[in-house]
Amino acid sequence: MTPPEEIAAGPILLRRWRAEDAPALNLAILDSFEHLHPWMPWAAERPSLEQTEEVIAKPGDDFLYGMFSDGEVAGGCGLHWRRGLNVLEIGYWVALRHARKGYARAAAGALTEAALALPGIERVEIRCDEANEASAAVPRSLGYRLDRVEPDAVLAPAETGRSMVWVKERLPPGDRGLSNP
Ligand SMILES: CC(C)(COP(=O)(O)OP(=O)(O)OC[C@H]1O[C@@H](n2cnc3c(N)ncnc32)[C@H](O)[C@@H]1OP(=O)(O)O)[C@@H](O)C(=O)NCCC(=O)NCCS
Repeated sequence: MTPPEEIAAGPILLRRWRAEDAPALNLAILDSFEHLHPWMPWAAERPSLEQTEEVIAKPGDDFLYGMFSDGEVAGGCGLHWRRGLNVLEIGYWVALRHARKGYARAAAGALTEAALALPGIERVEIRCDEANEASAAVPRSLGYRLDRVEPDAVLAPAETGRSMVWVKERLPPGDRGLSNP
């Protein structure tokens, strides 16, 4: 039930965070703070290096990855167990200096495949605030279906309190379009 430690994702490499990534991750967050603060609940305050070290070291069941571009921290993404037993939710952020290069799309596409390859995973979700156009473009461009828009807690300053829930489901065995001649 564990996705790979490293996943090639087109222009970037996804790799599980390691303790030694903390300084580069902390700098990437600080450099992009104004870009992350409106949308990411964990970017309420500028983190100290010690806080970033703690986040990386904290044990947990989720699968958190760094996005690396030529060895540089370009962002972060992950697969999260917070929507039920057979569901993984994808989250992502990209450092401002690497925005609009297709990295979030590449990361979310690779994580979608990795999640649906895990035994028992039937569905992958991407949730984003209704006003977060950049984030919504990611699942839309990957062929996710907008399942619903629902009230949600406001956890970051730009959030409206309404979340889009984008969904991709595992195709049933044998359903490769042949049933719709
Ligand atoms: C949302 C975010 C991860 C997008 O990352 P990115 O690497 O720049 O996105 P990509 O380059 O992969 O682009 C993916 C799609 O989003 C679109 N997009 C990216 N930034 C956009 C913007 N600011 N406004 C509108 N569309 C945007 C791209 O055009 C592309 O769509 P296409 O494939 O139809 O052309 C990035 O802006 C970010 O980190 N934002 C702050 C944190 C955040 O909001 N995280 C998500 C919380 S749910």
